Order: sequence, then structure tokens, then C-alpha cells
Amino acid sequence: MANLTNQDIQERVQALLEKMTLHEKVSLLSGKDAWHTVSIERLGIPSMTMTDGPHGVRSSYPDAGRKAGPTTCFPTGVSMAATWNTELIEQVGAALAEETRGMGCDILLGPCVNIVRHPLAGRNFEAYSEDPFVAGKIGTAWVKGLQSRRVGASLKHFACNNQEVERFRGSSQVDERTLREIYLPHFEMVVKEAQPYTVMCSYNRINGVYASENRHLLREILKNEWGFEGLVVSDWGANHTTIESVKNGLDLEMPGPAKYYGQLLEEGVNIWQIDEADINDAVRRILTILFKVGRFEDEASLPAGSVNSPQHQELARVVAEESITLLKNEGNLLPLRPEGLRRIAVIGPNAAEDRIGGGGSSFVDPPYRVSPLQGLEARLGNKVEIVYEKGCDNWQDPPVIGQDYLQPLTDTGQGLKVEFFDNPNLQGEAVDVLYVPKTEFWMWANSLPAQHVTSPRFSLRASGRLQVPESGEYTLYLSNTAQCRVIIDGKQILEHLSLPSNLAQDRTDTRAEYSLHLESGKAYALVLEFLKDDDLHFAHARLALSRKYQEDENARIARAAQLASTCDVAIIFAGMPEGFESEGADRPHMRLPGPQDRLIEAVAQANPHTIVVLNAGSPVEMPWADQVPAIVEAYYPGQEGGNAIARILLGEVNPSGKLTVTFPRRLEDTPAYINYPGGREVIYGEGIFVGYRYYDKKDIQPLFPFGHGLSYTTFEYRDLTLPQEARIGESVEVSVTVKNTGSIAGKEVVQLYVCDPESSLARPPKELKGFAKVALAPGESKTVKFTLDSRAFAFYDPYQSRWVVERGQFEILVGSSSRDIRLKASLTMA
Ligand code: BGC
Repeated sequence: MANLTNQDIQERVQALLEKMTLHEKVSLLSGKDAWHTVSIERLGIPSMTMTDGPHGVRSSYPDAGRKAGPTTCFPTGVSMAATWNTELIEQVGAALAEETRGMGCDILLGPCVNIVRHPLAGRNFEAYSEDPFVAGKIGTAWVKGLQSRRVGASLKHFACNNQEVERFRGSSQVDERTLREIYLPHFEMVVKEAQPYTVMCSYNRINGVYASENRHLLREILKNEWGFEGLVVSDWGANHTTIESVKNGLDLEMPGPAKYYGQLLEEGVNIWQIDEADINDAVRRILTILFKVGRFEDEASLPAGSVNSPQHQELARVVAEESITLLKNEGNLLPLRPEGLRRIAVIGPNAAEDRIGGGGSSFVDPPYRVSPLQGLEARLGNKVEIVYEKGCDNWQDPPVIGQDYLQPLTDTGQGLKVEFFDNPNLQGEAVDVLYVPKTEFWMWANSLPAQHVTSPRFSLRASGRLQVPESGEYTLYLSNTAQCRVIIDGKQILEHLSLPSNLAQDRTDTRAEYSLHLESGKAYALVLEFLKDDDLHFAHARLALSRKYQEDENARIARAAQLASTCDVAIIFAGMPEGFESEGADRPHMRLPGPQDRLIEAVAQANPHTIVVLNAGSPVEMPWADQVPAIVEAYYPGQEGGNAIARILLGEVNPSGKLTVTFPRRLEDTPAYINYPGGREVIYGEGIFVGYRYYDKKDIQPLFPFGHGLSYTTFEYRDLTLPQEARIGESVEVSVTVKNTGSIAGKEVVQLYVCDPESSLARPPKELKGFAKVALAPGESKTVKFTLDSRAFAFYDPYQSRWVVERGQFEILVGSSSRDIRLKASLTMA
């Protein structure tokens, strides 16, 4: 079967379609539950299984019967893009496919290619770039790799899903030219070059019409213009209509069971509101994907799955290493040379914990995490003295109670037993039991992990044994939808009923807290009860715990600075706490959370050799940037993060990551500043001037420009070669030679920008149209070649509704960042 041609598949699909009743056809167009499609036994049509993406397989608990357990956590989307290494990302795609298969799934819900429009958007860490060319190239590589192992991708979120404020209802108001030039080209590139099996349409509206029923986007552009032959699936809960959605191009409604499709859709056909041909088209698409992922074949004949293999873990480390971006390195403070060091201060809230990812559906629970402190200790332990001080906290929301604080109840380390009841008040016997690693639940009430819960009015009791590493004062924080209780050692200490949230803007819930003294070495019986007596589809409960320090903030900071003053070098690991950047919420501001800015300033004053390493998925303000000699952006580097960071700091690996988003000096400088976050409508008033296109046009000096990233070696550019003249419509060949002029091996990301100095419509001063990552030994030169097709010179003309290349002069700019252009040449379009 693996050798079936497209033609063979279409014949088999047609044969099945002819045997199906209308009822059977319609049944296929909604999920069975949160993650599976419907199967039809009579015809031997199997179901397929989906899971999140995009930087690992989400499988914390056996949701809707899916297999659970730890999986490899790769660096998140922004890191993948910051590698600028498409071959490497193709390997990541293939590894993710193996993990997906290993967890028994067929579709991995990714890549997330949405444009980083505003620095505060909660999901920027999942996405790739402010630039559609970078997003398109990285997304294409990811999908090609994944689908090479016959696991399907879900290119998401189509389209203009660029913030979390009002993500379920807001309308992105975007003019056609901006849509075509900024918000669609990367989707187009991935669709045309990698043929993703599925495309996920977003929650939001675009110019007033929900993505899930948007004829312009789904039918006219995606399916007709671009020729997309795969399946359009709704984001989870994003579909709101029956007839319009099917007619306008939404094939599969998720999650199941059917809400707007199902019986309503069948009736729609019977009363001639919708043509059966439209249903057939959608069914054909689903059946085709079932063949492509191999669901009609023997499991054994499919590419093998594997989870947490040493190869995947190594790949996760390599991706982190290739992404980490050296922003500043005054006086070549980095790399650190252990021979010359006696004592190093390791400081900061992210030093002893590895920040593997952001929050929301993309979160992955890996089998282990390596913190930067561990990474440094493993390499320097017996050569250099390392002293550690946290200095301050950075959490906004304290961390949930996870494996470290729960005695394991199973041999896989799961620490909570969850009993489900098929009624809202814990009556009678539990109908299902499962084990989970932490005190947080996030589930679709119409599709629970429990198999025997029949209604969204259900309850659960989670119990485990809580233990803390240090005795002291602690605070418990409870946030939940519906009603929740916390009981410790038999005594109820918290009860919280959140308001019916039908008017809430999002999955908003409120919070209750309770302070208590906990002793180390003692196990406390912890029980969390969740009672849901409403029909809402979403259920959430989160119990967090934090330690209250006796000392005040200033004293902790002073202690860290004092320690730094006794060391040769101070390294501060700052940035975001877990889940601060998250699906579901935008960041409240662009600063580092907590008193981290003050910590950095105090340490930098105490020790002139201070290095700041940041974990952030999008830009942060750095009021201290001039006070520290070295700054490293590590993003969210996945489970191997600590090893990757240590290898970069010690020069075992030469940094080669570059920014795929501009780091502005202040929020007021950013392109969407006056239109963000909008209300019911979000006006995309900056138009095509997104990211560096805006900073260039307005001549605003960013803190660190798009494309910036330093190396421990230096590169020289020469011999930019291109024709002086070209004809409109023809491709143009460009080449340039790059030499490593330093004394160690390194990799350079060569960037090519096109500038159209005179045109009938306003254009950005430059636009990225090519890049290549080249590895060079000391003294080595390589010639890099680019082919620019006619789109590279074009703008979208909204008057003519087409791409236009105008006659006249163009400039080709080649350089090491958008603000470090090394060579220029011009070309006349005739
Ligand atoms: C997210 C998607 C995700 C889906 C399934 C949605 O809330 O927007 O990115 O794939 O849930 O978890």
C-alpha cells in the first residue's frame, strides 16, 4: 500500500464514497472526540488520531484514550526559526514524526506559522518570525520532514491569528495588499512547496467573517488559487455555523462530537441548503488523508515510531545550540575560558530550572530537563568553583505542583490519581481512573479523557501526597472554572466557585489563595475536588504552590550582588517564568517580570564581567543593555537547554542563531502600538509595515535588529555577482562569497534583501528574499547562490488584484543582518 500513487488513492476514495450513505458521509466531518475522527465499521473506514504540536508531542495524560507519557521537548518555534537552518528543521520534522507515531498518533498539530505582529502576543514563542519569507521556509522544512515519515501536519492558524486578546471573537481588519504580502505568503509557500495534509483555520474573524467560514480565505485563496488538496480542520471550537462553513471550505469540525455539523448538516442537505457535492468534496479529503497517513495499512508497514530516543534528545540539543543568539559581546567576554577562571556566580530565577517552553496546548512534558546550572556544573564542576544564588523570583503565576513536589504513585512517576464521576457532585463509584503528573487540568468537557463520563456535568477527585524540599511558609493558589475544593490531611482549606463564564472574554477564571506552614520530610495527603454543574465546553483547574521567603526582595538582590562581587564572572539567567508567555493570554507588558531588571543592574554594578542569558519567546525591554558586556538570547531551548547554553557560553559551540524578530527599545516604538489590542475589531493599521519593514521605513533604531546575531569568529563578504539587467517574469541568479576571517570554525547566516527604490505604491525599504546558513572553517571561503523568482521583486496590486513587478531599478542588498548590509548592487528590470 505504501506505494499507492495519488491516482490509486483517488480511485479507492471514490469507491468508498460511492458506498457511503449521506449519514455516514456527514458523520466523518466532525471529530469523534477531542482527538479522533469517526470510524465507520461497516465500510472498514478507520479513525485517525491527532495531537499537539508543534515542538513535541503533547501527551501528559491519556486524553480521549490517547497514549500518555513523556516525549522529547524540542526548542519552540521561535528557536527553530532562529537557527535559519532549513535542513536541520527538516530533521526535526522527521524526529517529531517518529515521536508522533511512537505515541500512536497520525497528525501533529503544527507548524504554527503566524506572523509575529506585536511583541506582547502570547503565542509568539510558538511562531517563527515577523517576516513571511523566514516563516515560510522554516514551516516548509518542518512539514517536509514530518510528512516524509507519513505523519500529517496541520499548518496553523489560518489566518491573521496574531494575538490572544479576544482570540475567540476578535476580527482582524486587514486590507487585501497586507493580507497578500504579510499574512499569507508563508501559508502559500508551505502549501505549494510541502503540501501539508491539513490546514487549521483560526479562531478569529478576518474582516468580520470567522476564519472557519471565510470564503475568501478558504475557498477562493487556499483551495482554488493555491490548489490545496488536503483537509481544512477547524481550530478546537472555532466553527460556529453549518451551511456557511461547509460551503465556504471547512471540511472537518473539531473537537467532536458534532456541534454544528452532524445532524444539522444532514438536514441542510435534505432541505437543499447545501449540495451533496460539497459534502463529497470534504469526505474525499478526509479519506485521502486516512490513506496518506497509512490508516488503511498494517501498522508494521508504516515508518517506525520512537519516543525519547538518544538521537532525538541530541537533536533537541543541536537545535538549541544553533538557535541561541549572541546579542552583545563587548571585549569578547564570551566564550568563557575555564583556564582563566577561579569562581563563577550563577544567578537568577532561570538558572536552576530549564525553561523548556511556553504555556497552552503546545506544552510538552519531557522525561527530564537540564537546567543551565546543571549544564555548567557538568562541564566545569571540578575545574572552577560555581556559586549559585537565585536573587529573585520571576513568576507572575506561581508554578503548579508538579512531579518534584508529589510522591510518585506509579512507576512512571505520575503523582496524582484522578477519579472521574459521571455526575457533578462526586456521588457513587468513580467511573474512570487515571494518573497525571501535576495539579493542572485543561480539558474539553464534551470530550474528556474519561471514557465513561457522559455529560459536561461531571466531577473529579485528584489525590496524591505532597512533599516540600524545605520547611517554611507556603501559599497555595487555586484557579478554576466551575467549583473546586482543596483538602489537606482531611481538612478543607480552600473552596472556590468561579462565576458562570458565558460572559467572560476568554477561558477566564478567578483565583483563591491560602497560606500554610509545610514541613520538609513529611508527606501531606492532598485532595483536589472539581465539580462541574454547567454545560460549558471548557474545564480548567490549577493548583499552584509557592514558597514565601522571610527576606524581602532588596535583601535577596543585595545578597546576589554581593556574591557576584566575589567572582571572576557573573552569569544571570533571567527571562520568563514557566507559562508566562502562553496561549490564551498576551503579556501585560514588555518588561522582564518581577524585579529582574533591578537584579541585573545590581549584579552588573557589583561585577563588570556580567553576562545576561535570557529565556524569552519575544522581545523584552533591556534598560540595562548598556551596563552589561554580554547578552545571550536562549529563547525556550527545550529539555536539553542547559547543555546547549553551557556549550555556547564555554565556546564548545560557536553561536550562529540570529533574530527572526526585531527587538525594539520600547513598546511605543513598535509597528502595531496604537492599534493593539483593539476590541471587537483589531485594525491592522500599520499595513505591510510589520517588523523591520516598519523600523526601516520610520528610521527607528531598534535595540537589536532583525537578522542580528554575533559569532565568536568574523566573516567577510565579497564578489556580489548578478546580471545588470533582467526581464520581468524571469528568475535572477545572484551569488556572493563569504569568508571566515577569524581563527575558529563558525556558521554565518547570509541574508539577501530586495529594495525597490521607486514604485507606484509605497514599499518597504527592503524585504528579505533569500538566506543561507554556511559553515566555514577558519580561513575558508564559500560562494552562496540565490535564485530570485519574479515574486521576489513583486508587490500585490490591490487595484488589479494581482502581483506586479514594475520596470526600473532594483537594489540587491546582502549582509549579516537587516542593519548590517555588507554589499549592494543594482539591477534593471526591463
Ligand atoms: C489551539 C491549537 C491547538 C488546539 C488543540 C487550540 O486551542 O489554538 O493550536 O492545536 O487547541 O489543542
